[in-house]
Amino acid sequence: MPQPPRSPTDSGSMQDKSASTRDGCTNIIWTLLLVGYVIPKIFLYIQRLFSPILRIPGPWVHKLTFLPLKVAIAKGESHYFTVNLHKQYGPIVALSPTMISVADAGEIKRINQIEDWPRSEAVYGNFRQDPQRPTLLAFTDKKAYSQRQRLVSSMFGLRYVRSMQPLMLNCISVLMEELETRRRSGTATVDMQHMIQSLAADIIGVTTFGQTFDLTVTKRRALIANCKEPPREDLLQKMVEAADQDNHPGSTFRSSDVQDEVVVLLIAGSEATANAELFTLINLLRNMQKLATLYEEIDRRYPKGDDRQTDCDYSMPGMTYLQACIDETMRLVPGQATGSPRESLKDETLLGYSVPKGTTVFPTTRVCIGKHFAAQEMHLSLMSLLRKFRFKYIPGQDESTVFRIAQQMRGSRYMMKVSLR
Ligand code: HEM
Repeated sequence: MPQPPRSPTDSGSMQDKSASTRDGCTNIIWTLLLVGYVIPKIFLYIQRLFSPILRIPGPWVHKLTFLPLKVAIAKGESHYFTVNLHKQYGPIVALSPTMISVADAGEIKRINQIEDWPRSEAVYGNFRQDPQRPTLLAFTDKKAYSQRQRLVSSMFGLRYVRSMQPLMLNCISVLMEELETRRRSGTATVDMQHMIQSLAADIIGVTTFGQTFDLTVTKRRALIANCKEPPREDLLQKMVEAADQDNHPGSTFRSSDVQDEVVVLLIAGSEATANAELFTLINLLRNMQKLATLYEEIDRRYPKGDDRQTDCDYSMPGMTYLQACIDETMRLVPGQATGSPRESLKDETLLGYSVPKGTTVFPTTRVCIGKHFAAQEMHLSLMSLLRKFRFKYIPGQDESTVFRIAQQMRGSRYMMKVSLR
């Protein structure tokens, strides 16, 4: 049935109605925004204005908002952020409204050793794939952490790590062949950043999974394509054996935990080691006198013409100069941007300043469970490379660093000239 035409008054009242509905909706949105966001934010800022953190040295903007810290993290510059603040403001500084950094040996000892404050939930909570099931790296509960640490610590013991030496050497020999091929016509210009990163990833692949990741070096050829021999027992296998195969809900180490731990191993195990090796090599190339001293030490231990494979038990204890070069590099270019963050469980006083309960405190670095693994890998890789090749510094390249997983080069490649010794 045709509708009777609407009178102008009808359409006017409908427009009024829809306008008032729109106004109603707008009012509701504004009210929700005000109640749900603006008012709580105002309260938060007022709270921050009265927080004891405000009296801790540092720019006032850091004490009111997380923005400067977040921007530094997003730009990969958190390592400069904290150091620069300490340079400017002294041994205790505010990083954000709930985070401070302390660079005082006495207070660091108190936090880390004497009182052993727990890890910061605000930081480590972000490192979990499943919030309920942290990995070794992301536990904040001390008891649960010790339980997990007991389960995996045997995999990182010196004896087991030494049993992985042949696998590491296998991967290294493939890299050596690759370099040998490239410098065939004399001197080659090689992206050593890519080489060393690929090597570290392949080593962690072989030792953890028993096989290559098919990382490419040239023409998409797997760097360790020749590393055919799988280890009799890799880290993954050891973890699977330590895990509860039946996945009982109450179990502390299930298959899903194994998966998460392995992901951490892949990242923690390859990035930091590769960067430490690369930075050591770069530092040596920039200090030719030191490099000459190192070559002398290498030649004393493995005289030229001696074809024996590099062996950690044979050369690690005596080669103090190489170790000193690695240690000094890790001091100058540490893998971690800041110390491992802890949390104050009650109101505290640090260097005379009040620190409220729940504050995240960055004191100093924590011990790495993979330290024997890393030390062995760095010794074998650097020794093998330096025994055979001469590396030359190419000036003018970007050598600034960013902090992503670990401190790393900002640029995606780092070239060196490589020739036979
Ligand atoms: C030069 C090389 C390395 C450096 C500088 C390094 C440094 C560190 C640091 C500072 C931590 C403590 C992190 C924190 O408290 O937030 C850590 C933890 C860890 N690292 Fe390494 N790491 C290296 C190599 C490795 C390797 C090769 C592996 C494994 C094969 C590994 C596995 C781990 C694991 C599983 C953790 C967590 C351990 C725990 O919280 O108890 N790391 N590492």
